[in-house]
Amino acid sequence: SSNNRKISSSMTTTKAQMSQDELKKLVGYKSVDDHVLSGMVVGLGTGSTAYFAVERLGQKLKSGELKDIVAIPTSERTREQAESLGIPLCTLNEKSKLDVAIDGADEVDPDLALVKGGGGALLREKMVEVMAKKFIVIVDESKLCKGLGPGFPLPVEITPFCHEHTARTIAELPSLAGCEAVIRMGSSSTNKPDGDNVAVTDNGNYIVDLHFKAPIKDVNKAASDLKNTVGVVDHGLFVGMSYQVIVAGSDGIRVAGT
Ligand code: 5RP
Repeated sequence: SSNNRKISSSMTTTKAQMSQDELKKLVGYKSVDDHVLSGMVVGLGTGSTAYFAVERLGQKLKSGELKDIVAIPTSERTREQAESLGIPLCTLNEKSKLDVAIDGADEVDPDLALVKGGGGALLREKMVEVMAKKFIVIVDESKLCKGLGPGFPLPVEITPFCHEHTARTIAELPSLAGCEAVIRMGSSSTNKPDGDNVAVTDNGNYIVDLHFKAPIKDVNKAASDLKNTVGVVDHGLFVGMSYQVIVAGSDGIRVAGT
C-alpha cells in the first residue's frame, strides 16, 4: 500500500564527506527543485533542514524561475524567514488545499512514519502538512531508524492547565509502556512571564517529551491513544502522511516512497 513504502535506494548524487549542514542543504534544495512548480500553494516546514527549502524557494522566486507561489508557514520562525525572503504568504484560513508541503523530521521508520516536533512546531506542521497533496520529508540519514521511539523523544503538545497531570496520564497509557514523560524547558526567549522556565509553543501550549528505551510497538495505537487523551492538543507521530522522503547520506541522495 502507499502507506507501506520501504526505503529503496536509488543513487542520484555522489558526495564525499559532506557536513550535516551540507546534506541538509542538498535535500532542502532538491525538494523545491523536484516538487514546486509555479502557481502552487506550498507548505513550509520548520527546523534546520526545512530552512534550506525555504531559502531555495526564496531564490527561485527572486530569479523569476518560479511565479505565483503562495506559501503557508508552520511556525513563527519560518514565517519570519519566508517574509525576509519576500515569499508571499497566507494561512490555512485563506487556502485549505496545498499542492505540496516540505519539512524535516526527527525520526523516519521503514514505513515512512515520522517523529516530529523536536523544534516544538508539531501542531502547525501537522495541520498544514495533512492538507497537502504531497508531503515531502527531507532528512539526512542520521534520522533513519528501525523503530520510532528510542532514538529521539516523542514530543506531545499539551494544554498548560494541569500539565503535570496530563503528562502523568500520558505516561500511564499502555500503548506507551515504559516511557518517561519530561516537560520541556525553554530558552529565555520562550519563558512564561511568571519566570517559570517551561517552554511555550507558538500556540501558547507546553510540550512533554516522551523518552523510550525500546521502539514503540504499535505506532497507530500509540497515536490514537495520545489523540484521545483529554489535555493533549496533538502529538509528534506523523503516520501515513509522507508522500516521499528524500534522504541525504555520505553515499548520495536516496528517495523513498512515490
Ligand atoms: C520541528 C520539526 C522539525 O522538522 C524536526 O525537529 C527536524 O528538525 P531539523 O531539520 O532541524 O533536524 O518537527 O517541530
